[in-house]
Amino acid sequence: MLFLAGSKPLLHFRPPSKRIPSWKPAGNGPQHMKGSTLLRKNYIYAPGPVSVPPQVLAATAKPIIHHRSADFDPLFKKVSEGLKYIFQTKNPVVTFASSGTGAMEAAIVSTASPGDHVISLESGKFGERWGELSQAYGFDVDRVQFEWGYGPDPNKVAELLKARPDTKAVYIELCETSTGTVSDVKAVAEITRNTDTLLIVDAVSGLCADELRSDEWGVDLVGTGSQKGVMLPPGLGFVSVSAKAQEAIKKSKCPKFYFSLAKALKELEKNTTPFTPAVNLIFGLEVALDMIQAEGIENVWARHARLAEGSRQAMKAINCTLFSKAPANTVTTVNVPDDVDGSKIVKTLKEMGVIIAGGQGHLKGKIFRFATLGYYNEFDVITIVDAVEQALAKLGHKFDRGAGVNAAQKYFAG
Ligand SMILES: Cc1ncc(COP(=O)(O)O)c(C=O)c1O
Repeated sequence: MLFLAGSKPLLHFRPPSKRIPSWKPAGNGPQHMKGSTLLRKNYIYAPGPVSVPPQVLAATAKPIIHHRSADFDPLFKKVSEGLKYIFQTKNPVVTFASSGTGAMEAAIVSTASPGDHVISLESGKFGERWGELSQAYGFDVDRVQFEWGYGPDPNKVAELLKARPDTKAVYIELCETSTGTVSDVKAVAEITRNTDTLLIVDAVSGLCADELRSDEWGVDLVGTGSQKGVMLPPGLGFVSVSAKAQEAIKKSKCPKFYFSLAKALKELEKNTTPFTPAVNLIFGLEVALDMIQAEGIENVWARHARLAEGSRQAMKAINCTLFSKAPANTVTTVNVPDDVDGSKIVKTLKEMGVIIAGGQGHLKGKIFRFATLGYYNEFDVITIVDAVEQALAKLGHKFDRGAGVNAAQKYFAG
């Protein structure tokens, strides 16, 4: 006890308890790991948002700077130049504080007018988004359907454009994330590049994972989001804009305000943005772009190709078949084996702390999807393959335990 002269005790020190106190974890602690003694760790293998490199995360935590200041402009100039490299273009790349859909919306509302004829190539959930966006803005949209798991047929595009040379734009996916399928953007660009029709590519998931050479192939607008191959948290949308697209922007009468490429391009010339940018994500973007430049975009594509092939070989080795007929390097899609309840795979992995994605639309319960997109390497493939093996074994699938991990290791060693 502590006494001051002539007063009551102020503090009362209790002797320490002999018992170790019980401790309850806060938040989503081990309750998700029911029955397990493993340390709870999160493993993200969904096709976005993806894991973010620690140095990128650390950069996003830097003290904020004002965006109308001499500090911001050189930073924005640097990242806008760096973005050109990953889009493989000499043309400007605009940055929005938005998700990837914002980038897609900006690309179409800035280049077309209500009533314009456009072609939306749809072979999955995200292709459908082009059609939905076009309808929302009153375009005369031809929503061309292709079987899910196949990329759009370039011959069909040639045929459609021959019949409607007045087509304002063709909309396509680089990677259709819902089916894990890569489109032949190069072949479609060959059809549009010497016409008045724009080619607009949704590369939200595909950029940095599946090859895309915007200028060399003649692609006009490419949209993406920060939370995938660019290795950032969600919150930035990017659009590259060709010279042909810049001409179309001058003529566009589509209603728009925030998602105006005209406004954004004007401000980009002064190394700034029309509205408040997501400053701390831009700090992270600088580091992420430095990392991609240091590795080299071709090496980044090659790494994704290698990880995806290792994943595919692993899945075949555990008696699973692949869904896509033109598999992307962005995400691996696997048919649910007949001996397993497809509705339980994603949930079982989640209970182990491993996040993957299930099927969308009519593929719900029929496929599962996992990605090693962005900040991932061979060890990550081994981890996700082992996790999938554990989950499938728990759910009663018959296969040689370890065959998937073995196949991936063999592929990587070779
Ligand atoms: C191909 C594709 N397009 C568009 C989107 C939508 O992006 P966001 O959720 O960032 O708006 C996604 C998201 O997964 C995607 O994979």
